Amino acid sequence: MEPRIKLHDKSFKLFLPYSEIETAIDQVAERINKDFHGCEDVPIILCVLNGSILFTAELMKRLDFNAQFLSVRLSSYQGTRSTGEVQQLLGLTEDIRGRRIIIIEDIVDTGTTMENLHGMLLEKGAAEIRICTMLLKPEVYRKALPLDYVAMEIPNRFIVGFGLDYDELGRNYKDIYVLDS
Ligand code: IMP
Ligand code: MG
Repeated sequence: MEPRIKLHDKSFKLFLPYSEIETAIDQVAERINKDFHGCEDVPIILCVLNGSILFTAELMKRLDFNAQFLSVRLSSYQGTRSTGEVQQLLGLTEDIRGRRIIIIEDIVDTGTTMENLHGMLLEKGAAEIRICTMLLKPEVYRKALPLDYVAMEIPNRFIVGFGLDYDELGRNYKDIYVLDS
């Protein structure tokens, strides 16, 4: 575990060790399993690339009902700030009409990305949409959209690691780091 990492021009310090992330994922997976235990449909686990790749993998290993995996690729951040605009870089490859969907997101900040994706899935005929996010910044979240499963809440700081990046660097670290200011 590195106490500090450097990405491009910025320095980051350890914020959430992997052991804490794992515990939070265990807990959120347990809640999802409880809600979906014995379901007769096959819900879709929708990974929001790129940031959610590690979280989705860790979470999926813990789910004990039959689910289908799908992914979309969205982008809204540039550097350390949200642009307020969501770009869809890779869309859905399956018909989702009538399906229940669990969106798996790395972090919800302003909520623009989730609101945008939620709207798109409804438009495409999803029967039910739930949102599962590894991290939430409650100080900045201003949307009415309910976040069904939140693994951890954090202050309004810029973080990297465990899938999250600063201009495409930092995703591979298993611990989460915060911008050192
Ligand atoms: P929102 O649309 O403002 O909620 O931003 C959500 C998206 O921005 C997430 O899917 C992340 O990809 C990215 N993001 C938000 N906060 C951070 C952060 O602290 N570090 C890295 N990426 C972030
Ligand atoms: Mg993301």
